[in-house]
Formats: sequence, structure tokens, C-alpha cells
Amino acid sequence: MRRAIFPGSFDPLTNGHLDVIKRSSPLFDEIIVAVLNNPDKNPMFTVEERVAIIEEIIPSVEHGSCRLTVDSFSGLTAEFAKRREAIAIVRGIRAVSDYEYELRMALMNRKLEPTIETVFLMADEEYSYVSSTLMKQVFLLGGRVDGLIPELVESRMHEKKK
Ligand code: PNS
Repeated sequence: MRRAIFPGSFDPLTNGHLDVIKRSSPLFDEIIVAVLNNPDKNPMFTVEERVAIIEEIIPSVEHGSCRLTVDSFSGLTAEFAKRREAIAIVRGIRAVSDYEYELRMALMNRKLEPTIETVFLMADEEYSYVSSTLMKQVFLLGGRVDGLIPELVESRMHEKKK
């Protein structure tokens, strides 16, 4: 059983995240999309809302025989991965600017749990500039984000804005 976790804030889920899930699905039997419960941040969506949104959307992602599940966690990603008996942590890399932060995280996670590998995947270049932070900012300032986030996410963002 080759299980991976795909951890993140997912505030909100973007089409870049979905592309990474799709690309990683042939590599694993199960991928757990793991939403971090981070009390320090001031999120747009609660963890419960993020989990519910992802659960609603992922059945539509092309995933072959890979099982896609969603969960939330607090604390260390490496510990969560170990608890769920994952062999890998999946992360998406967009540009070179992501590399330094991701490298430090991957090395720290390896120090914490030496048997769990971080697997980096490059999302389609059409999403290379898409981040949750940018999507929220552009949306809240009235800009268009269609094609960059799932329609369901956009409609939930409209509800939040009201
Ligand atoms: O989507 P994000 O915000 O880039 O995801 C970052 C995340 C959740 C992967 C990272 O902040 C994380 O792993 N946080 C949990 C705490 C932890 O394990 N820290 C040590 C990792 S070096």
C-alpha cells in the first residue's frame, strides 16, 4: 500500500493543487489531502469548510485507481504522515522561488522522519503563478480568478465576501 499525504493550507484550494493531485495519483495507491489546522493564520475558510470543499471537488479529479481522501491535522506534518503510515509527502513546486523554502521543509521533515520521502511535482505551467494568497487578494479586490480556482471555490468565496 503506497500512501502519500499532500499537506497544505488550501485556503483556498486552487487548480494548481488539483493538478498536483492528478499528477501524483498514478504514483500512489492513496493520497490524503491533509489540511493544516494553523491557529496562527487568519484564514478565509475554516478548516472544516476547507475539508468540505476539497471533499466535494476531488471526486471530479482524474485519479485512476488511486484513492483520494481528505483529512485535517494539527502539529507536525512529518508526525501526521507517520501516523497515517504514509511513505511520502507530496508538494508542488512552481518557480525557483519556491525551492528554498521547500528544500528546508523537506530536509527538516526528513530529519524528523527519515523513512518518509518528499516528492516534488511541477504543476502545469499555466498555474505557475497561482497561489492561494494571490487568488484571495485578486478576488477580494474584484479581479477575475476564473480558470485558476474551481468554480465551487469561487462561489464559496462570493458567499464569504457578502
Ligand atoms: O500550503 P502551504 O501553506 O504552503 O503548506 C505549508 C505546510 C502546511 C506544508 C507547512 O507549513 C507545514 O508542514 N506545517 C506543519 C508544521 C510542520 O510540520 N513544520 C515543520 C515543517 S519543516
